[in-house]
Order: sequence, then C-alpha cells, then structure tokens
Amino acid sequence: MDDLLIRPMTEDDVAAAEAVSGAAFLEVDRHARRVADPEPTPRTPAHRATWIERTRHLVRTDPAGCWVAEDAGGVVGLATSFRRETLWCLATYAVLPGRQGRGIGRPLLAAALHHGRACLRGMLSSSTDARAVRTYHRAGFELHPQMRLSGTVDRTAIPVVEKVRDGSAGDVDLMDSLDRLARGAGHGPDHELMLRTWRLLVSDTPTGRGYVYLDHRGPALLAASDRRTAARLLWAALAESTGPVGVGHVTDANQWALDVGLAAGLDLTQDGYLGLRGMKPPAPYVHSGALL
Ligand SMILES: CC(C)(COP(=O)(O)OP(=O)(O)OC[C@H]1O[C@@H](n2cnc3c(N)ncnc32)[C@H](O)[C@@H]1OP(=O)(O)O)[C@@H](O)C(=O)NCCC(=O)NCCS
Repeated sequence: MDDLLIRPMTEDDVAAAEAVSGAAFLEVDRHARRVADPEPTPRTPAHRATWIERTRHLVRTDPAGCWVAEDAGGVVGLATSFRRETLWCLATYAVLPGRQGRGIGRPLLAAALHHGRACLRGMLSSSTDARAVRTYHRAGFELHPQMRLSGTVDRTAIPVVEKVRDGSAGDVDLMDSLDRLARGAGHGPDHELMLRTWRLLVSDTPTGRGYVYLDHRGPALLAASDRRTAARLLWAALAESTGPVGVGHVTDANQWALDVGLAAGLDLTQDGYLGLRGMKPPAPYVHSGALL
C-alpha cells in the first residue's frame, strides 16, 4: 500500500483501466452465477472497445471525476464519474481482484464523490458485490433493486407499433427535457457519444413524447413523458431484436416495463441495485448502467 498513488485518469490510462474493470466484473459475474447459467466469459474485443470509447469520453468531459489507483506494477483500480447539470453519476468503480478489500477502493470513491460535492442528486448502478453495496450505502445512497428482462422475443406477441420514428441530433433538446423530468438533468454531451454508437428511436405526438437508445443487446436507455409512450417505445425496441435481447436496470417504479417484457415472453431476474441520493427512482425511465 505504501507506493499506492490515487491520481486523475488520463486518456493514456484508459486501456489499463479497462483491463482492471474487465477482470473485476468477470469475478462479480462468476460470483453471481446461478447453477443453470453458463460460465461467464471475458469481454469481447467489441465490448472492450465500447468501454474504452465511453471512458475516453468521460475523461474528456469530466477530467476531475475520473481517477485511478496505481502502484509500481501499474493501474490497480479506477472510479469514473461525471456531472450533468445538478446530477452526479458514477459510471464505473473497480479494483483488481486479489487487491480488493485492502482499502484501495475507499479513497478512489472519495475522489469521485468529491467531483459531485455540489450536486443535489446522485445516481449509480451497483453490482451485488458486498463491498460495493456497503460503500454506496455508507456514502448515503438509497439502494433500489434492479430487475432484468432477457430471452428471445415472442414475435407473435408484438403489437402494431405506430408513431415511432428514427431519431437524430435534432432530438437532443427533446431528450434533455425528458431526462430533466425523469432524473433532474439532461444527458447533454453524452448524446453525442450515444448517437454515434447506438441507434435512436423517438416517439413525438401531441399526447406523449419519449425516446429509446438501442445497443447490440436491446434497449439501453429509455425515457418518456408517460407510461403509454414508454411501453410503445419498448415494444418498438423489442421488435427490432433479431436474437437474444436484454432489458437491464428495470426498477420497481417501472412496472410498465415488466408488463411489456413479460408479455413479450422474456424472463425476469434480479440484477444489482440502483443507488440514488436526493431523488426517487426515475419513471417512466430505464437507465443506462454507465451513463444512467
Ligand atoms: C467495490 C470495489 C471497487 C471496492 O474496492 P476495495 O478496494 O475492494 O474496497 P475497500 O477495501 O476500500 O473497502 C470498501 C468497503 O468495503 C468493506 N469491505 C471490505 N471487504 C469486504 C467484504 N469482504 N465484505 C463486505 N465488505 C467488505 C470495507 O470495510 C470498506 O467499508 P468501509 O469503508 O465502511 O470500511 C472492489 O471490491 C471491486 O472491484 N469489486 C468488484 C467490482 C464491483 O462490483 N464494482 C462496483 C460496481 S458498481
């Protein structure tokens, strides 16, 4: 511990930080694995590239929110966080397996939390890791169980979905307004990253407005002015799937998502916690794990 240094992350650190994160979350997945689940596998090159691109984006927008722990052997831990308007979000937090539980994570999270010290609200998506849950609770976050819908969509169950179109950069103001309603802050510069890497669907009618971003697994972030529009967008997103699909991060406040997912033939499991400070679980809203 003597030669441990906690310092701001630079773009040059991001590949090493990804390796730490990949190793730490592989262990979390192994630990959470149920008997019937397949053995967790390391991240694919595509997943690693996505992680690296997102983290570089955060180092650029929030250099004071992204930290590494380093010793003579290199990067052993990281915490990346960002501020959007009056909201602070934690994107990733990990320490190398074998180095965990020895006090490295604590100062890393303290440095990231300092970045959000003036923010009224805080948001993070926690794994089931005992150290993570304890640390977030101690930092004043309320923990709300998250659910996950996954499987292959029963295509005979998909209703006719109307009033949904492809979105573009021209929808950013609308999306930021919806985010402010749901979580008190727009995604701001994150839309540039999401528009570049994900597909966007929008519903904009006189009675309801909303949007959903889709990554390769399915809906990655969804916000709407009302449950009816949210359900319409989730159906539209599920209709786009061609293989196994996953809808993560569904909270108790979003029963409409269970109505759609279960009607679509997906399975329901539990999956970590949404940690919140100064706010209630957003709805109708399905948050992104890292960009919340
Ligand atoms: C979560 C994580 C980053 C914490 O880093 P760490 O270096 O292991 O944490 P620390 O040693 O600083 O301990 C953090 C807290 O956990 C407690 N703790 C340590 N070992 C523990 C254990 N086995 N069970 C429960 N709590 C434990 C510590 O006492 C400390 O609490 P305190 O600050 O109230 O004293 C790290 O364990 C990790 O990478 N876990 C896997 C990835 C993950 O789940 N990340 C969080 C994603 S949201």
